[in-house]
Amino acid sequence: MKVVITKDYTEMCKLASRIFAAEITLKPDCVLGLATGSTPVGMYKELVEMYNEHRVDFSQVKTVNLDEYAGLSGDNDQSYRYFMNHNLFDHININKENTNVPNGTAADLEAECERYEQVVASMGGVDVQLLGIGNNGHIAFNEPCEEFPEKTHVVNLTQNTIEANARFFASMDDVPKKALTMGIGTIMKAKKIVLLANGAKKAQTIYDTVYGPITPKVPASILRLHPDVTIFVDEEAGALLKK
Ligand code: GLP
Repeated sequence: MKVVITKDYTEMCKLASRIFAAEITLKPDCVLGLATGSTPVGMYKELVEMYNEHRVDFSQVKTVNLDEYAGLSGDNDQSYRYFMNHNLFDHININKENTNVPNGTAADLEAECERYEQVVASMGGVDVQLLGIGNNGHIAFNEPCEEFPEKTHVVNLTQNTIEANARFFASMDDVPKKALTMGIGTIMKAKKIVLLANGAKKAQTIYDTVYGPITPKVPASILRLHPDVTIFVDEEAGALLKK
């Protein structure tokens, strides 16, 4: 695992965006694994800027997102499909048919998880996977638990995550309590993984991820067993690593 401490959020986003731009340049029809949350917004802005400057071409790129809230349709402005369209896909020349997000309104959520797992497999796997991290160490929506979940599955969100997500919703009652998420096994199959974290709130979980025991209680800790992971943190998120 490579850890890069950047001077600030802007530098973190710039450095991470270059890894994605390089992948697209080397392999124009690559499969990108994408993430939501406030952390990757700046990196998506960088990619849009590179596209506007004709430095990167998304016309053959395929994408798979990590997760989606159960019960929210793609036109709900809090859904992850909406987030992706709004922050990235609507601003670049990607073919939306090549973009995949789990369907949070599928009648049978378990069947949707199976379908999604097949979609990822049928694309030949993810070339570069982007990850954020929850305050409690979750990646995608793989919450702290007793065993690492392998495949795409339906998850009950923890109170910690529901509270962290509440800032985006009008009331606590509106915050989804369930989600569909790629499993840890699905994520670990990616050839390359890039994790981003910024802000003091992430400092402890980044420390636990890098130095703590490898345990499903800190889901991101498993990334230490992956052969090609780069973690970009700003000074605040990386503060405990330096002591
Ligand atoms: C949600 C997403 C995660 C993301 C996390 C952190 O839980 N499912 O993929 O990493 O939020 O969000 P933020 O970047 O806003 O801190």
